[in-house]
Amino acid sequence: MTSSPNKEGLTEMCSDAAKIGVENGDGQVLKVRLNDLNIFNCQTCDHGWGICLQEDKCKIEDDFEIIHKSMAEVDGCIIITPVYWGDMSESAKAFFDRLRRCEANFDPNKTNKIQNKPFICVAAAGGSGNGTLSCLTNMERLFFHLNKLNIRNVTKFDYIGITQRNKGYMSNAIQAAAQNMVEDK
Ligand SMILES: Cc1cc2nc3c(=O)[nH]c(=O)nc-3n(C[C@H](O)[C@H](O)[C@H](O)COP(=O)(O)O)c2cc1C
Repeated sequence: MTSSPNKEGLTEMCSDAAKIGVENGDGQVLKVRLNDLNIFNCQTCDHGWGICLQEDKCKIEDDFEIIHKSMAEVDGCIIITPVYWGDMSESAKAFFDRLRRCEANFDPNKTNKIQNKPFICVAAAGGSGNGTLSCLTNMERLFFHLNKLNIRNVTKFDYIGITQRNKGYMSNAIQAAAQNMVEDK
């Protein structure tokens, strides 16, 4: 899953590396470009919670639920965002904000979409690399909240920061992480 408007930038390069890694591990890739989709911001329904709390889905009729449902079908997820202002991009934030709400109400009698899935988070920054760590920290918070709220297992497989400076060797790390994640299943 990528969240850059740029089709030829560092995020895309990371996506290519992740794809090679998954395929080297004999896995199949379902690629999602969030910026090609319509995913609106959470509307914070009512007094803070909407149907997301009880029904594990969002009332907004856009592309979010298609992607949310497809997360149940895959064995793991690699999320790659450009670093904007030391944070994830706006399309990633919109998706994560809604995902954590729709996954917050864990019921052991039904399987939530991302339960028991391993995740790799990648933050792709510019030359300075400023804010790479805060971006990864903000991505980590999604999993922190979900693991804390419930007794489920969302595996934080890896957090990787890549910049224009270190991309030569860090793209190899992304490839290796993706392959390892597939082979671990
Ligand atoms: C609005 C905006 C904010 C950015 N903020 C940061 C930043 O805080 N730190 C950083 O290292 N790079 C920053 N950059 C640079 C991008 O992270 C870098 O160009 C990255 O390669 C973007 O991903 P892309 O190549 O897929 O477009 C910013 C770029 C934009 C457009």
